[in-house]
Amino acid sequence: MDTSKIYILAIESSCDDTSAAILFNGKILSNVVANQKIHEEYGGVVPELASRAHQQNIVPVVHQALVKANIDKKQLSAIAFTRGPGLMGSLLVGTSFSKSLALGLDIPLIEVNHMQAHILAHFIEEEEQSKPSFPFLAMTISGGHTQIVKVNHYFDMEVIGETIDDAVGEAFDKSAKILGLPYPGGPLIDKHAQKGNPKAFSFTKPRVDGLNFSFSGLKTGILYFIQGKLKENPNFIEENLDDICASIQYTIIEILKDKLKKAVKETGIKQIAIGGGVSANSGVRAMLKDGESRYGWKSFVPKFEYCTDNAAMIAIVGYLKYLEGNFSDETVTAKARYSI
Ligand code: KG4
Ligand code: ZN
Repeated sequence: MDTSKIYILAIESSCDDTSAAILFNGKILSNVVANQKIHEEYGGVVPELASRAHQQNIVPVVHQALVKANIDKKQLSAIAFTRGPGLMGSLLVGTSFSKSLALGLDIPLIEVNHMQAHILAHFIEEEEQSKPSFPFLAMTISGGHTQIVKVNHYFDMEVIGETIDDAVGEAFDKSAKILGLPYPGGPLIDKHAQKGNPKAFSFTKPRVDGLNFSFSGLKTGILYFIQGKLKENPNFIEENLDDICASIQYTIIEILKDKLKKAVKETGIKQIAIGGGVSANSGVRAMLKDGESRYGWKSFVPKFEYCTDNAAMIAIVGYLKYLEGNFSDETVTAKARYSI
C-alpha cells in the first residue's frame, strides 16, 4: 500500500453539528462545520430535528470541504465516519452517507469512535502545537461528555473516571438556564464569571468515590439557592449575575481539579490533554496553567475548532487507522453506545 499521499474525507454527525473534513497525511486541509441553530429555541438538542438537519446539511457540507481543500473526490484514499457514541438518528445519517460514498468510489471505509477522536485530535499536525507523549491523561469535557482517560497508545485507552449523571457542559448550560440565560449558556457563564467574585457564594461540591463525577446535585443546589434568594429579593439575579456566575464556575472547576489531582496521583502521569467544548472555558485554562506551576503538570489544549464536535478529529483517527490497514466492511452499523 502506498502511504505517501493519503487523503481522508471524514464525516461527523453524532449530535447536532454536521461536519466534514479533508486531511492530507497528518494535516487538515478543510474542516467545515454546520451548526444547527434550530435547537436554541428548545433550550437543548432535539434528536429528531437533529437528524433531519443532518440530512439537509450533509451533501453541501461535504461538497464545501472538498472545494475548500481544492481536491476532487476521485483523489480520496478513504472515508472515515463517526460510528458512535451519539444520537442514533444523527449517527445513521453520517454512517449511511459514508458507506454509500465509499462503495460508490470503491475506497476503504473506516469507522471511528467519537470519544477516541476527541483525544486523538491532539495528533493533528499543527504549527506551534506540541503533542502529548504516551502515556498521558485525557480529560474530555463537553455538553455530552465528561471523562478522564488514561491513554497508553493511540488505540490503547482506558476510561478511569466519568460522570454518573450530567456532563460538565450540561452543568454550565442548566445553571445558565436557571439564571435565565439563553442556550447554550456555558460561554455566557464564563463571560460573566470573569467580572465576578468566585468566593461570593458557596455551593456544595458532590461527594463521588474514585475518579467519577456527578453534576446533577450541584444543579439542584443552585436552583434552590436562587429560588430562596429570589423570595427575598426579586432582582437578586440581575444585581449579582457576575458573582453568581463566578461562584458557579469556581465550584465546577474545583470539581474538575480535584479529580485531575487524584488521577495524577493514582497514575503518576502528569501530562494532561483536554478536549471538548468546555475546554474553551477561561477558568479551566487558568486551572491547568496553575497546575503546571503548582504541581508540575504539563497541559495540552488543541485549537478550539478541534475541541468542539468536528470532523477534523475524525479524520486524524481515520488516518492513523489507514496506516494500520484497519478498515471496516460495508456491514458496519451505527452504535449509539460505544465505549472507548
Ligand atoms: O463539544 P461541544 O461543542 O458539543 C458537545 O457537547 O459535544 O460542547 C458544547 C458545550 C456546551 O455545553 C457549552 O455550554 C460548553 O461546551 N461551552 C462552555 C464554554 N464554551 C462552550 N462552557 C463553559 N465555558 C465556555 N467558555
Ligand atoms: Zn463530542
